[in-house]
Amino acid sequence: MKTVTTIAEIRAQRADWRARGERIAFVPTMGNLHTGHLQLLTQARQLARRAVVSIFVNPLQFGPSEDYQSYPRSLEADSVQLAAEGLDMLFAPKVGEMYPDGTESMTRVEVPDLSNILCGLARPGHFTGVATVVTKLFNIVQPDVALFGEKDYQQLLVIRRVVADLCLPVEIVGVPTVREADGLAMSSRNAYLADAERARAPLLHQTLLAVVQRLQHGADDFAALESEAVNRLRESGFRPDYVSVRRAQDLAEPTLQDSALVVLGAAWLGKTRLIDNVRM
Ligand code: PAJ
Repeated sequence: MKTVTTIAEIRAQRADWRARGERIAFVPTMGNLHTGHLQLLTQARQLARRAVVSIFVNPLQFGPSEDYQSYPRSLEADSVQLAAEGLDMLFAPKVGEMYPDGTESMTRVEVPDLSNILCGLARPGHFTGVATVVTKLFNIVQPDVALFGEKDYQQLLVIRRVVADLCLPVEIVGVPTVREADGLAMSSRNAYLADAERARAPLLHQTLLAVVQRLQHGADDFAALESEAVNRLRESGFRPDYVSVRRAQDLAEPTLQDSALVVLGAAWLGKTRLIDNVRM
């Protein structure tokens, strides 16, 4: 596995692969890799001859009071895991390589409505930071296909929208959420959970599953289901941001005619913000 830190190096390798007609799959990450990330890589390898992973903790997608400074960084351990998976190239740029003139007056990619609901309400500017860095990474790596986890469902839809609206020549593939044995969605931030919180954390997934089951049994008062779920989480020591039933295709509020739904939730346990979703 080759590790590169500059745009020039990755471009040179990219040109070489392209000249040989080799397809490239790309998995952008912020590192501190777990089995969920590795599942994206496994699928990437099935879709293309070459696989590139990026590790970049992107300052542009963190709010001023968020965990940019303390976000877990473990480049060495991540490199060992990626090499063992037979990755072709790891792109691990420094902030100065990605944002040489700082982030203040940087061009941004904004998806207006989709970015301002659900997680976007609680995290203003977050999805603009994600859309901007992912667009930039796509332009650097120029992959044929890029893989994103359904765990970050709103993020996946934001990226799909950017690619469609800006005619970016890359295919986006969504990968189902990888979970711990007790149902908790794997996440780099799970490392923040204290033992007692970790024991309680699977309740987020259980609560979303219970809403889906009620929907499947004909319940159609979305607002009542949402507030019951929020109360259940609150009673168990979570501080919920939201539980919401949405249309899977575009996260619009559903009508009774919509059948492809997704139930999404975000809730704090102590200092850890957990997100999850279950599709119907
Ligand atoms: P990060 O949180 O590191 O996640 C990288 C990718 O792994 C994302 O596509 C995410 O959805 C996926 N992923 C995380 N946990 C997963 C799980 N349990 N199962 C399946 N996939 C999972 O998401 C980001 O980084 C950043 O916002 C990024 C897209 C890299 C832009 O900075």
